[in-house]
Amino acid sequence: MKVEAFFYFLLKLFTLHLSSVECKTKCLVKGERVDCTRLKLTAVPSDLPENISDLDMAHNQLHELPSSAMSRYKELIYLDASYNSIQKIDPELCLVLPHLHALKVQHNEVHLLSEKDLKHCLNLTELNLSGNRLKMTADTFRHLQNLKILDVSKNELKSVNLGMSPQLSSLQVLNLSENKISEIKKEDFIYLSNSSLLLLKLESLPLKIIERGCLSMIGQLHGLVLDNSKLDSKFIEDLSYELSETKISNLSLKNTDISIINNSTFRGLNETHLTVLDLSKNQIDIISEYSFKWLSKLEHLYLQENFLDHLENTTFYGLSSLKSLNLGRALIRGNKTSTPVVDDFSFQSLENLEYLVLQDNEFTGLKDNTFSGLRNLKYLTLSNCNINLNVINSRTLSSLSQSPLLFLNLTSVGISQINNGTFSWFPHLIKLYIGHNKIMQTLSGEEFRGLENIEEIYLSYNQKITLRPLSFCHVKTIRTLMLGRTLAGSLDFNSSPFQGLQNLTVLDLSNNNIANINDALFSGLEHLKILKLQHNNLARLWKSGNPGGPVLFLKGLINLRILQLESNGFDEIPADGFKGLSQLIELDLGLNDLNFFPETLFKDLSSLRVLGIQKNLIISVPENTFKKVFSNLHILYMGKNPFDCTCESMYWFVNWLNKTNTSIPGLNSEYICNSPPKYYNSSISDFDISPCKDLAPFAFFLSSAIVVLVFLFSAILIQFQGWRVQFFWNVLVNRILGYKEIDLGENRFEYDAYIIHAAKDATWVDRNVIPLRDKFQNMFHFSSEERDIAAGTFELEAIIESMSKSRKIVFIITNALLNDPWCKRFKVHQAMHQAIEQSRDSIVLLFLEDIPDYKLHQTLFLRRGMFKSQCILYWPVQNDRLQAFYQKMRVALGSSNRV
Ligand SMILES: *[C@@H]1O[C@H](CO)[C@@H](O)[C@H](O)[C@H]1NC(C)=O
Ligand SMILES: *[C@@H]1O[C@H](CO)[C@@H](O)[C@H](O)[C@H]1NC(C)=O
Ligand SMILES: *[C@@H]1O[C@H](CO)[C@@H](O)[C@H](O)[C@H]1NC(C)=O
Ligand SMILES: *[C@@H]1O[C@H](CO)[C@@H](O)[C@H](O)[C@H]1NC(C)=O
Ligand SMILES: *[C@@H]1O[C@H](CO)[C@@H](O)[C@H](O)[C@H]1NC(C)=O
Ligand SMILES: *[C@@H]1O[C@H](CO)[C@@H](O)[C@H](O)[C@H]1NC(C)=O
Ligand SMILES: *[C@@H]1O[C@H](CO)[C@@H](O)[C@H](O)[C@H]1NC(C)=O
Ligand SMILES: *[C@@H]1O[C@H](CO)[C@@H](O)[C@H](O)[C@H]1NC(C)=O
Repeated sequence: MKVEAFFYFLLKLFTLHLSSVECKTKCLVKGERVDCTRLKLTAVPSDLPENISDLDMAHNQLHELPSSAMSRYKELIYLDASYNSIQKIDPELCLVLPHLHALKVQHNEVHLLSEKDLKHCLNLTELNLSGNRLKMTADTFRHLQNLKILDVSKNELKSVNLGMSPQLSSLQVLNLSENKISEIKKEDFIYLSNSSLLLLKLESLPLKIIERGCLSMIGQLHGLVLDNSKLDSKFIEDLSYELSETKISNLSLKNTDISIINNSTFRGLNETHLTVLDLSKNQIDIISEYSFKWLSKLEHLYLQENFLDHLENTTFYGLSSLKSLNLGRALIRGNKTSTPVVDDFSFQSLENLEYLVLQDNEFTGLKDNTFSGLRNLKYLTLSNCNINLNVINSRTLSSLSQSPLLFLNLTSVGISQINNGTFSWFPHLIKLYIGHNKIMQTLSGEEFRGLENIEEIYLSYNQKITLRPLSFCHVKTIRTLMLGRTLAGSLDFNSSPFQGLQNLTVLDLSNNNIANINDALFSGLEHLKILKLQHNNLARLWKSGNPGGPVLFLKGLINLRILQLESNGFDEIPADGFKGLSQLIELDLGLNDLNFFPETLFKDLSSLRVLGIQKNLIISVPENTFKKVFSNLHILYMGKNPFDCTCESMYWFVNWLNKTNTSIPGLNSEYICNSPPKYYNSSISDFDISPCKDLAPFAFFLSSAIVVLVFLFSAILIQFQGWRVQFFWNVLVNRILGYKEIDLGENRFEYDAYIIHAAKDATWVDRNVIPLRDKFQNMFHFSSEERDIAAGTFELEAIIESMSKSRKIVFIITNALLNDPWCKRFKVHQAMHQAIEQSRDSIVLLFLEDIPDYKLHQTLFLRRGMFKSQCILYWPVQNDRLQAFYQKMRVALGSSNRV
């Protein structure tokens, strides 16, 4: 295992090395495109495929683009040699690359450039020479009849003039930004008089003078960008007049230091079709009356980030086509002594206005007619405005009564109370944002009366909103209801405030410290797809010890897709907690105290793709609970749990992690072992599962082997030793059930031994056993049926009685005994019975002949193993061992009868 890991490591290192080397030294060829960027090339590579169409050699150290080297790539259409040190354009370049369309040599050191250098570039459509040190002769671009885009920005050019005669007939975009151009002379654009220039970029220029008639040469001009140039009002006024001779529709004057706009500023534009005017990020504080009256075609006006003092009923006069107006952060007090003022009817001329952005402003407030006349207004944003909204009522927004408003953003405007009917003007309103205010009230429901088509209400982040069963009774069409970090009081109503909101799709109740709800709160919300309940206090509801049992508050939410339950203090989840949530895609249970999940908890979650159970108290990840739900996951968040890195707890999980395609963010940093001490604080990816792997099959092998062995052993035991089991079982049962030895002392026996022998062996007994009596000094009294049976006693009874009066029963075992039916059946049985019943080790076997055990068992149901070895005696063949035999016999007859 270790060796394998080492080789893997080596392999990784090797491939890493290879790939890094590869991307550093060679051009990447992808079909007909070649990427040779950032290779410190000092010369054009000569080993690329000949048929390439795109060659990108940006960010290298090329000093030239020699036609000799480039001629190899005749099919080139696109050539990028930007960010090199090229000083000259090879006059033959376009000749050897007849199909070249785009040549990019920005940020090089091209200095002298003349007409003949570009003589062959007839087919070029895009030429970028930005960021060089261009010094051009007249008519440099004369041959570029197909050029559409020309960029000569950042070249310290002093004039916009690039030619003396009409040329560049196809040019559409010309960028002259960031040069040192301060004036535009009348004839400067003569070279474009045959062109159809659409967009002219003159950004960041120190422009001061614009001569009469200079733009008349570029009559097709649609867009002019003058951003970041410092322009005075005289210049803009002149510019307007010049633009009147163009087709200008888009004028950008962003960040140009304009401070005043008056009725003559845009006067020149009165006959244009200007549709977009960007005046944002300027210093405009005064817009005089009727300043925009010339711009009747204007559709979009950007005035954000200015310092306007005052909007009057005449400010926007004439802007009858305006569709959108951005005044965000355009009315701010700043250092001024007085707050900006927005007069009544300020917007009355804007009868076609649809979008009005007034966010981030500070002005005196809304008046009865502030928004009057906005007959087409659909979107209004007043967010972050300091406009003295506090308690709002039906009068506050009444000036919007003519506006078919669809969207109203009142985020963070200082509202503390909404009175009945405030929004009754907005039967078309779809989205209402009133979050991040200071609202502190009980919602009776009348506040939202009239919002007949509302689909979204955002009320999160208010101070203290208390719900009542009828809070949303006038907004049954609602689909999204956001009530995060805003609620106070209980939600444990008999009749839920959400009842009847049959189209409710998104409900946010997060961060409310909600502790008491019942299982009817969400009932009927069959369309609910997103439920946010994180950061509440719902733990009690799911405790098994909850009075009345766990509250299954999610039941019936059959369309739920996203469920957020983080930070609720959950330490228990009932097995049915997620029952029926078969559409659920995302479940977040992070930051709780969970460590056990019922095996069937995730059973219904067949659509789950994202699961968050990070920061809980999960110790082990059992296969039975998680296997199925993990198998469909796209993302798992399970970090920061106190994992127990033992085979038992983690083997399956770590094994799964090694194989899965599921994305597991933070796998290397957040999945840390908490125990056992050996792995404490190390990543679970360091937990070596190879011993588990070996152990698992081995344990299986071991346990199955044990089972088989036990089975075999039992079978064998029962087959061959069953008698012994039975015997000792019987002994045990007798003992336990109280057939205790009636211990009358050894004295109750009349005889020392009862001798069972075959009739044939009587002589041997007479000769060898009876004399023992004398030998042992009358120690033993033998009983033998022939001798001691009292006269007249029935034979069987007599035998039983004799046996019971004898301390030991001696079997004289010979083949004759085995064949004696009388002995076989009755006497042996009786002897065994007695031995068992009295728990006595009372039997002595005396073998006169060599009898195998199986034979003994077959006939007498006895085995040698049943008896103590000292009670099994063999009659010696040799005479000299007789003494030893007698000694043994004495021990056997004298030994205790206890088992
Ligand atoms: C321009 O391109 C066409 C085909 O794309 C080619 O036939 C023609 O020779 C090229 N013109 C020049 C001047 O290279
Ligand atoms: C422009 O405003 C001035 C005063 O500021 C006024 O005298 C003049 O008549 C106005 N011109 C137009 C065309 O409204
Ligand atoms: C534009 O203004 C000029 C002069 O102020 C005027 O002669 C002309 O009629 C105006 N054109 C339009 C369309 O208002
Ligand atoms: C603008 O308001 C003033 C009063 O403040 C009024 O005399 C004037 O007629 C209004 N102008 C327009 C165009 O409504
Ligand atoms: C406010 O005054 C400070 C210092 O007088 C100045 O730096 C700042 O630009 C002024 N801000 C505005 C919006 O005029
Ligand atoms: C409402 O305005 C706030 C503050 O400007 C902004 O964060 C929020 O995105 C706006 N809401 C919408 C839906 O545009
Ligand atoms: C608002 O309506 C509720 C419910 O109809 C009513 O109880 C309450 O008095 C009303 N508030 C005002 C200020 O009219
Ligand atoms: C719920 O949505 C459906 C389909 O968009 C619509 O027909 C129905 O009128 C809506 N119900 C309510 C109460 O808005």
